[in-house]
Amino acid sequence: MSNTRTTSGSSKPHELGLDLLVELKGSRVRAGLTEALREAIRSGRLPAGSRMPASRMLATDLGLARSTITECYGELIAEGWLTARQGSGTHVANVAQQAIATPSDPSRAGGEIEGLAPGAADFADFPRQQWLAAARRVLASAPYSAFGYGDPGGNLHLRTALAGYLARVRGVSAGPEQIIICSGFHHGLGLMARALRARGAESVATESYGLGLYRDVLTETGLRIPPLAVDERGARTDELDGTVDAALLTPAHQFPTGAALSPDRRAHALRWAQRTGGLILEDDYDGEFRYDRAPVAALQGIDPDHVAYFGTASKSVAPALRVAWMVVPRRLVPAVLAAKGAVETVSVIDQLTLAEFIASGAFDRNVRLRRQNYRRRREQLTATLSDSSPAYRLIGMQAGLQAVIALPAGLESATLQAAASRGLIMSGLSEFRHPDADRAGEIDGLVVNFSAISDSAWPSTLSLLGSAIRANKLATR
Ligand SMILES: Cc1ncc(COP(=O)(O)O)c(C=O)c1O
Repeated sequence: MSNTRTTSGSSKPHELGLDLLVELKGSRVRAGLTEALREAIRSGRLPAGSRMPASRMLATDLGLARSTITECYGELIAEGWLTARQGSGTHVANVAQQAIATPSDPSRAGGEIEGLAPGAADFADFPRQQWLAAARRVLASAPYSAFGYGDPGGNLHLRTALAGYLARVRGVSAGPEQIIICSGFHHGLGLMARALRARGAESVATESYGLGLYRDVLTETGLRIPPLAVDERGARTDELDGTVDAALLTPAHQFPTGAALSPDRRAHALRWAQRTGGLILEDDYDGEFRYDRAPVAALQGIDPDHVAYFGTASKSVAPALRVAWMVVPRRLVPAVLAAKGAVETVSVIDQLTLAEFIASGAFDRNVRLRRQNYRRRREQLTATLSDSSPAYRLIGMQAGLQAVIALPAGLESATLQAAASRGLIMSGLSEFRHPDADRAGEIDGLVVNFSAISDSAWPSTLSLLGSAIRANKLATR
């Protein structure tokens, strides 16, 4: 059942001066009104600071009992959406409004709140000035020949800049001719999957926690994707055997659990590849972001013949660039180039700008700044957690753009719901579980994406998160 009612409005400034369309869904009137007001705040139709109508007036407007309105206001005050002060009435709270990042994903039509879920991005720290300066230098100085279709494998300036950068920062060992530019990791993985299929590969082991999107890329080419268990020391590479042709791993910072692949498991992975002729697909999506100690080098540098390395500009510059790179063992270069096709699909002008951005040192400076910011956010998250629930902890190491709050078994969905009712959209670890993974290895946890929220909204987001965790703890006692 759904019925739409309109408040009659008020002439007093800051009160609900305009008519507000309230859609009451379902048969439970109070719950329907509470959700309708949450939605109005969430979508910005009721901006922060707006004075809510007196309960008597709203009751008359909506044809409801006054007690229904006061209970509804009480609930929204308890959840942090409204504030009430003696003598000055009920207002839309700032805290709820601040936590709302602009809905940027058109698939979230209807004004759903963006939140801390992986994939959400704010990137308020996008280096606009430095990027513009690099683009200006490129456009001013590039020869006319640079504005043609370009080399299908990627622009040579960018490949050369990346060869130097990756050797310096990640210990990658490759000449520019082994680097192939692609439109994001998703694209690169698809190219590699097709190249492997063309060479007769049938299966790629995939970590028991990871993005389903990437598992789909592999299965769409006809590959099987047997799961490889993940624990606090990363993927169980000691379980790799001759039945798989390749293994997709996130050694530097397991996604999403945050574990680093332990030294013995790094060695197991390399020995497996050498013994069986298998290929390690090393997804180094956030290798630049390590806070506790010097980053461990990429596996690729140890055995360039058995590792295909994947990096991306999504974390270090912005996902909107859609530029990533793959470093491919020499024998596989022709097959991957064949999969990519005869015409370059990644903007050559953006590639040249990124090459200039790297060569000028702006890339390193930007990563350093972000690293400081994300390290600080991680520390603040740890502090929030120890205030709201000392028994909970962050798992995974100090790295990356996401952290995982481990929860007692069975609490994941209740905590996600408590967060959602406060307007905070997050993901639980279960969202990333491989469908065929052994249930015995399940972990309950919340995935917190640091980069989804702007600096200004971060403190209020943390307090909403703390409140969701506390509320859930109380509710489950
Ligand atoms: C596990 C993992 N790999 C790779 C990437 C990079 O993907 P892309 O380059 O398509 O943005 C991401 C981005 O979030 C990721 O989470």
